[in-house]
Amino acid sequence: MFQFLEDKRIFHLYNDKVSFVLALFPDKEGHEELLMTYYGKRLDHPECTLRTMQWWEGASFDSPRQMLPYACPTDGRGDFRPPMLRVLQPDGAMTAELFYQGYELVQGKPELPGLPSVYTEKNDEAETLTVLLCDQKTKLVVRLAYTLFASLPVVTASCSLVNQGEADLVLDQAASVTLSLPGSFDMVHLHGAWAKERQVERVPAGCMTRSIGSVRGASGHEHNPFAALAYPETTEHMGECWGVNLVYSGDFEITVDENAYHTTRLVAGIHSRHFTWHLHQGESFQTPEAVMVYSDQGFNGMSQTYHTLYRTRLCRGAWRDRERPILLNNWEATYFDFNSEKILSIAKAAKAIGVEMFVLDDGWFGKRNDDHCSLGDWVVNEEKVTGGMKQLSAAIHDLGLSFGLWVEPEMISPDSDLYRAHPDWCLHEPGRMRTEARTQLILDLARKDVQDYIISAISDVISSGDINYIKWDMNRNFAEFGSESLHDGREGETSHRYMLGLYRILQEITTRFPDVLFESCSGGGGRFDAGMLAYMPQTWTSDDTDAAERLRIQYGTSFCYPASAMGAHVSAVPNHQAGRTTPMKMRCEVALGGNFGFELDLTKQSEEDLEEMRRQICRVKEIRNTTAKGTFTRLLSPYEGNVAAWQFADEKRVVFCAYRILVRPNDRLLPIRLKGLPEGATYVDEEGNAYSANDLMAFGIQPKLYPRDYASCVIVLTRQCD
Ligand code: DGJ
Repeated sequence: MFQFLEDKRIFHLYNDKVSFVLALFPDKEGHEELLMTYYGKRLDHPECTLRTMQWWEGASFDSPRQMLPYACPTDGRGDFRPPMLRVLQPDGAMTAELFYQGYELVQGKPELPGLPSVYTEKNDEAETLTVLLCDQKTKLVVRLAYTLFASLPVVTASCSLVNQGEADLVLDQAASVTLSLPGSFDMVHLHGAWAKERQVERVPAGCMTRSIGSVRGASGHEHNPFAALAYPETTEHMGECWGVNLVYSGDFEITVDENAYHTTRLVAGIHSRHFTWHLHQGESFQTPEAVMVYSDQGFNGMSQTYHTLYRTRLCRGAWRDRERPILLNNWEATYFDFNSEKILSIAKAAKAIGVEMFVLDDGWFGKRNDDHCSLGDWVVNEEKVTGGMKQLSAAIHDLGLSFGLWVEPEMISPDSDLYRAHPDWCLHEPGRMRTEARTQLILDLARKDVQDYIISAISDVISSGDINYIKWDMNRNFAEFGSESLHDGREGETSHRYMLGLYRILQEITTRFPDVLFESCSGGGGRFDAGMLAYMPQTWTSDDTDAAERLRIQYGTSFCYPASAMGAHVSAVPNHQAGRTTPMKMRCEVALGGNFGFELDLTKQSEEDLEEMRRQICRVKEIRNTTAKGTFTRLLSPYEGNVAAWQFADEKRVVFCAYRILVRPNDRLLPIRLKGLPEGATYVDEEGNAYSANDLMAFGIQPKLYPRDYASCVIVLTRQCD
């Protein structure tokens, strides 16, 4: 719902749960500036948010602008805090005075040109308010678009800039959103590295400027484009918090600033470090989208909103709602050392325990017997894959399995026919060394000819056999931010133009092959973000498949992303990343919290482990609809104790999962209380014990975690007819 209180100069977007308020604030000359005065629990009188502004006026010797919650703060006007926009003008000036011009309201949610975004299926699902601001001197028009979803506490925001003046402008910074909140907050974010992605950290924001980000050309392993602000007293299940997540897969920055007056500002968008963008007369620039979720039910409430939105209105295509196949990927089973015979023997063993899809990973093309060559030469190596992909995929299908294939389309090996033919096709700076990582360079996706080559080469690969799934990998980050197409002074555009090129490629390929299930990957979970999920409904969560490590990784990932987006596989022990040996039962019971699969040589497993896998696969087939689409609730954090627990619940059942990492003598385990079950419902577990929803929430359930390291317990509670 939308109100414009003309006399109060207030825009109010609201639904049953939240209000989002923008206000026009006049200066002495009668110009109006746009403030974001409120985002939170639904207000009765949005004009109450103006009172603080009036009180501040003249209350200090200091510049009053630094207390104002600007919706699009600019540099050099006495605001002093982190800006959202910096515009370099011919005379070297960087500021812009953004005054109100008008507004537009549309039902639904317009798409963002060239960029991924959340969407509506019907116009009554959301309303979009666009407020137009203009810098009088340069005639730069800023269009701030805010969409409020009708039934979710979600506001999305993005910004587009149009140069309507005569002078050439250069955007030195163009962020997506500014969120202003009065008070002091904790900042929660997800940090990590390869094999330990998305670890939860909570820090007081403090009277200072803090930021997280990536300057690697990908959202990265180190930080995720997500942060939440929360009151110090907010917990998993109680209190208020605000999540901000960028629908973007490239360089990003989220900055939180609390000033001496305890006004907090969060600015999120493309990282300004490698970014400059030329805006000639008449040209426009669109920023990525930010998704802001409000919760008054702690972090769980926030996460559940992200899960619902992303599962149903970010992910798209035939696989959005379909049950995902249980797959076996040969990477950790064989690495590069395989041939058709070996692959088929593993596939046969997979079929025998109930696996549904076989995925052939890296090493099937060119001369690729290690990671030193052939990226770009997407031609099957018939010495390893006898008769090519047509024959292998047919043989896999004959076993009763569907078939998937790994590709790494954004890369080029210096030792490849592609590089020998097109040495200018990689990102590079003239006259400088080309930095290799994993013996590979990055294709220059800012170039249209390179984009077209990838679209055609990967389309040929997908058409080369009966291929049902593609794992789209990306195994190194940028070093040189240079594109041959931009050496005319526009190198600062390389990183974002690369992302626009990648999104064009993904849009084209996923449209050409609508029935193929795509999973994105980046050296494990180095590009686990909402931008990729808009094209591919699942992402490989981490190369670390150790069950104990995965508890922390999957728990952290769930802060922003749904279980249906997380690839989770059972691998061999000792684990290849952590060296740890955990029981097959725990490995399976951790992996069932995501898109379940395997990553090991089944021809080498014990009969006992194969039997355990068979049993777990049967159960996964029964419950996967609940784990993928049900409401996910975190119960006990692996970051805070030795026991972790969570639940998935839909109208049919509850899947309760608990894990003890290390045993301690005489450690008493208390019952764990379930959350959010329907009042009056009754449930029966697999052993026939009955429970009421009320008792499960009030007293809890006692998990059977036997006194040994790496114990796990999954209880499936089936709802009885009322
Ligand atoms: C990194 C991925 O995360 C792995 O799963 C595997 O596909 C390798 N790349 C292959 O090079």
